[in-house]
Amino acid sequence: MNSNNFDYQQQAKQFADESPRSIIKLALDSFENIAISFSGAEDVVLIDLAVKIRSDINVFCLDTGRLHAETYRFIETVREHYQIDIDILSPPTEILQEFVKNKGLFSFYQDGHTECCGIRKVLPLKKKLAELDAWITGQRKDQSPDTRNAVPVIQKDNAFSTAEKTMIKFNPLANWSSTMVWEYITVNNVPFNPLHERGYISIGCEPCTRPVLPNQHERQGRWWWEEATQKECGLHADNMKEK
Ligand code: ADX
Ligand code: SF4
Repeated sequence: MNSNNFDYQQQAKQFADESPRSIIKLALDSFENIAISFSGAEDVVLIDLAVKIRSDINVFCLDTGRLHAETYRFIETVREHYQIDIDILSPPTEILQEFVKNKGLFSFYQDGHTECCGIRKVLPLKKKLAELDAWITGQRKDQSPDTRNAVPVIQKDNAFSTAEKTMIKFNPLANWSSTMVWEYITVNNVPFNPLHERGYISIGCEPCTRPVLPNQHERQGRWWWEEATQKECGLHADNMKEK
């Protein structure tokens, strides 16, 4: 389907309380040019659900160059386990080299994560989305009370839509809690990132992720030196605008 003709508002209403499987099925049935955005963490659930619907799913991973060694290995585990291709997307070399030459490798601790995430995540994502009509993410409402509590199961992605093309974004896990995700992983023997066994809940880049203490929210393990309402890296910029 052409994404401009997809009635996302109507479908979002209709699928608001549907299961992640039903939402993924709708996504895969509606669009040929669609891919799952996989971060190398518990969003592996999306892949497990999707391959049971269609074996030739498109999956991509934004390789920031700063992921944990465990995450790189886990991405490879997932590729082999599900026998799928995963597009590993790199940041633009020249822009990245200029950035680290000028500001070093840890500038985000001084002036925030926006610039680094912009180069290492948002630019490659923008390039990838230009060839897609829709994408599927593992965003959940319970991941971040400050930025994600209103994430719908289907939305127009205002950050990546253009005058010519509406970008549709599916968030099949939006209504699932972390507990439900982990129940699914356990019951279905889904492989998981070994960092989860070491106190990490939300996993991003190595310098910007840390394990959390008992009763801390998972988002406190990400960009902990920054204000909670700013903790979106640009992949999901709509969450900040909607606030
Ligand atoms: S982030 O914006 O704070 O980094 P988060 O780690 O919560 O995002 O992940 C939410 C969803 O964004 C993931 O389920 C995935 O769909 C997408 N995502 C985040 N990081 C990546 C990545 N490195 N590669 C691909 N997708 C990603
Ligand atoms: Fe850079 Fe940290 Fe963003 Fe990764 S999460 S791209 S290291 S600022």
